[in-house]
Amino acid sequence: MSFGKMPIANSFLKKNQFNKQYFYNMEAGFCNTCFTFQLIKIPKAKMMFNNNYAYLASTSSVMKKHWNKLSKKIIKKSKLNTKSFVVEIGSNDGIFLKNIAKKKINHLGVDASKNVCEIAKSKGINSLNDFFNIKTAKKIKLKYGQADVIVSTNTMHHIENINSVVKGMCELIKDDGIIITEDPSLKEMLKKNAYDQIYAEHMYIWSLSSMSYLFKKYGMEIYDIENNNLHGGCSRYFIAKRNKKKISSRVISQMKLEKRIGLNKLSTFKKFQKRIVTLRGELKSILSKLKKRNKIIVGYGAPAKSTTILNFCDINFKLIDKIFDNTPTKIGKFTPGKSLIKIEDSKKFKKTFSDYCVLFAWNHKKEILSKEKHYSKQHGKWIIPVPKLKIV
Ligand code: TMP
Repeated sequence: MSFGKMPIANSFLKKNQFNKQYFYNMEAGFCNTCFTFQLIKIPKAKMMFNNNYAYLASTSSVMKKHWNKLSKKIIKKSKLNTKSFVVEIGSNDGIFLKNIAKKKINHLGVDASKNVCEIAKSKGINSLNDFFNIKTAKKIKLKYGQADVIVSTNTMHHIENINSVVKGMCELIKDDGIIITEDPSLKEMLKKNAYDQIYAEHMYIWSLSSMSYLFKKYGMEIYDIENNNLHGGCSRYFIAKRNKKKISSRVISQMKLEKRIGLNKLSTFKKFQKRIVTLRGELKSILSKLKKRNKIIVGYGAPAKSTTILNFCDINFKLIDKIFDNTPTKIGKFTPGKSLIKIEDSKKFKKTFSDYCVLFAWNHKKEILSKEKHYSKQHGKWIIPVPKLKIV
């Protein structure tokens, strides 16, 4: 499945960078053996995770609450105390570990992007600016000992050499320790036609079937699963060394469900491809028609996902005047690729007139629409790009 030429999704640009962009051919594929849905060619990791990494997890209050809840659950379930050791892989600005650090529990956050690591450090979180793999795991083990809990949220889909990560987890985790991962779900991506989940940083979209296959190779198994609606639908996997935990009925029934809906068959993805090509045509066509009628169109939220929508659907600054976002690292910059739409502080949204607003951060719909209630009252219309094009 080809998406054409794509820039790095999170590489929001200054004006003088317009002509210095890196493009790659974005193609997705599915493996019949390990059931993994993934990109075929992936740009070098340093191109994506560096000192300019734009995504700051703490921009959403819903996400802050979500990770706070997870920390409480882990502390209780694993009976963590000040002698315990928690490692997070992909710790970003410390949104999760802040809650662990507050309880004076030993911890270490590992993140490949220097800027977000510095933010976490400034919040008092022990952080290591590095890529996590078997080498890093051995170093951590030597310095701090093995971990009681390893957490990795919205990160397992980011790392090309995922086998080295899982080997590293296996090396670092205590025999009775637990690993918790949480990532966008393939089942939900298909259900919601959320093709914007696919971009270089999201090189794998995991399912229970593909995750199980991966961890089994290293003597581990998924013993429980929870699904939630965040980031467009995520699955949280609870993993332990083989035969250490009882496999929950949720795992067994989700395995059966994944087979029933064809997550193990190439034909399922061919149908998905057809649906998203139709969606692309519809979005471009409605925006072009509105523009011809001199309507003012803006966007709300410049997630990495918007880079896929804008570039796949060939939408640029001629159709969308500006996009509002609350992330300090994005404000004042432009969306990457050929779209080149200015990003403005979402505080200005209330005072800026527009007729239509494309909600690129559709996964935060509840939070954003309740924050911006005035827009509908002033007859502004929201355009929701997935699962079906909807104007509300
Ligand atoms: P995400 O879907 O990857 O979490 O990205 C959501 C984007 O939307 C991110 O750039 C921040 C932005 N955003 C706002 O501008 N205002 C908000 O209220 C929320 C929740 C997100």
